[in-house]
Amino acid sequence: MPVLAIIGAQWGDEGKGKVVDLLAGKAGVVVRFSGGDNAGHTVINPYGKFKLHITPSGIFYPQTISIIGNGVVLNPAVLIGEIDHLNQCGVNTTKLFISDRAHLIMPYHLLLDRLEEESRAGKAIGTTGKGIGPAFADKVARSGIRTGDLLDKEVFLERLRFILDYKNTILTKVYGASPLSLDEIYGQYCQYRERLAAHIMETDTIMERALNQDELVILEGAQGTLLDPDFGTYPYTTSSSPLSGGGCLGAGISPPRLSHILGVFKAYCTRVGSGPMPTELKDETGDLIRERGHEYGTTTGRSRRCGWFDAVGARFSTRINGFTGIAITRLDILDTLPHLKICVGYKLKGKTIDYFPSSITALEKCQPIYEELAGWQTPTSDIRQYEQLPLPARQYIARLEELLPCPVSLISVGAEREQTILKTPVL
Ligand code: GDP
Ligand code: IMO
Ligand code: MG
Repeated sequence: MPVLAIIGAQWGDEGKGKVVDLLAGKAGVVVRFSGGDNAGHTVINPYGKFKLHITPSGIFYPQTISIIGNGVVLNPAVLIGEIDHLNQCGVNTTKLFISDRAHLIMPYHLLLDRLEEESRAGKAIGTTGKGIGPAFADKVARSGIRTGDLLDKEVFLERLRFILDYKNTILTKVYGASPLSLDEIYGQYCQYRERLAAHIMETDTIMERALNQDELVILEGAQGTLLDPDFGTYPYTTSSSPLSGGGCLGAGISPPRLSHILGVFKAYCTRVGSGPMPTELKDETGDLIRERGHEYGTTTGRSRRCGWFDAVGARFSTRINGFTGIAITRLDILDTLPHLKICVGYKLKGKTIDYFPSSITALEKCQPIYEELAGWQTPTSDIRQYEQLPLPARQYIARLEELLPCPVSLISVGAEREQTILKTPVL
């Protein structure tokens, strides 16, 4: 009964979409387990190039069931747009199911995301503006509306009326904004119901069947470990857990079932939005990585902050997720550099530390301690065998394995499915 969780190990955008698309051919079920359409997972395969925000990246395999899990918050308009686009590109979406426990993103969530960010002024988080924080806040405050509620017109209307009344008080009295119309939202969401009803169900039965039949289940992570609300750089985080533990909760898998946990790391670091990033390079090397790597956000188009690989954060991420293997992506982006650096510790108030501080005030003061390694200055995008990688590239990988410590199973040297080196089997 293999269950493989594919987890973002840094600040998101590590290449999870590519890795899921690569491995999903063997899977019976792929489940997106957290976040919402703040995610942007790029997949390039024979159907074309896709930027999936909410649809699981296993959607391209006709035999694979895709599930939007209970831990996701769903903007129905975004999903309908993705289904239409996928269908136009010849991708079958009849095996896409939505957990009836997943919460809905409502128009007031989008509005409040923007208003809350504006009110944070100089301390804005730099959210994606997709209503994620307000939707998860409502879930835990027991003021959310679930996709299952949408299926029953009366239940939905009653719940919406009750909640919208309160939301309109906040919108008008706290923010001085205009109230939202019950009729408009109700009408709009009834149209979404027409489109999505056939996909919404108790997905537990699908999971149970797949597990009983020994099929591979892949849990597709969104965001990255250092954006986790508990273990990330709080409050500069997202609002649901991208961790392997979050995978169990957000897909409805008991922890002992999780047999493989693959941590996806970029060969360097990037971050979009605000918050500390100890290895950020605000110099020409950072610019070079951004331009060579086209490091601009998949969801918002914002420019990503770039920096050297942070092995302190990576070791922390490896420990709290329990990675059984590692995928290193975007090795090819480093191909032209004469030397590389890895952060192996931090200097904090004159002392050397080897842990990732919980306080952002401390993390902001951390100065990275670097180890320098030789670059390879050779193109790697066409290499498919580990032994054929230039020696300095293998030395770089070996050093990461030693520092994490965790074995590297997969190395990605380009955005396309086949631009991948399998060092050791993932499963
Ligand atoms: P995700 O959110 O983790 O799925 O990652 P994103 O899709 O937001 O960002 C990763 C970007 O890197 C996308 O543009 C991918 O197409 C691309 N990509 C993934 N792996 C590689 C790789 O090994 N090399 C290069 N050059 N691009 C890659
Ligand atoms: P994928 O799945 C990178 C960041 C935002 C912001 C913070 C909070 O593609 O890796 P939110 O909208 O979640 O309230 O924003 O989290 N963020 C991401 N950064 N990749 C993502 O997803 C992200 N999802 C959210 O930039 O800093
Ligand atoms: Mg992304």
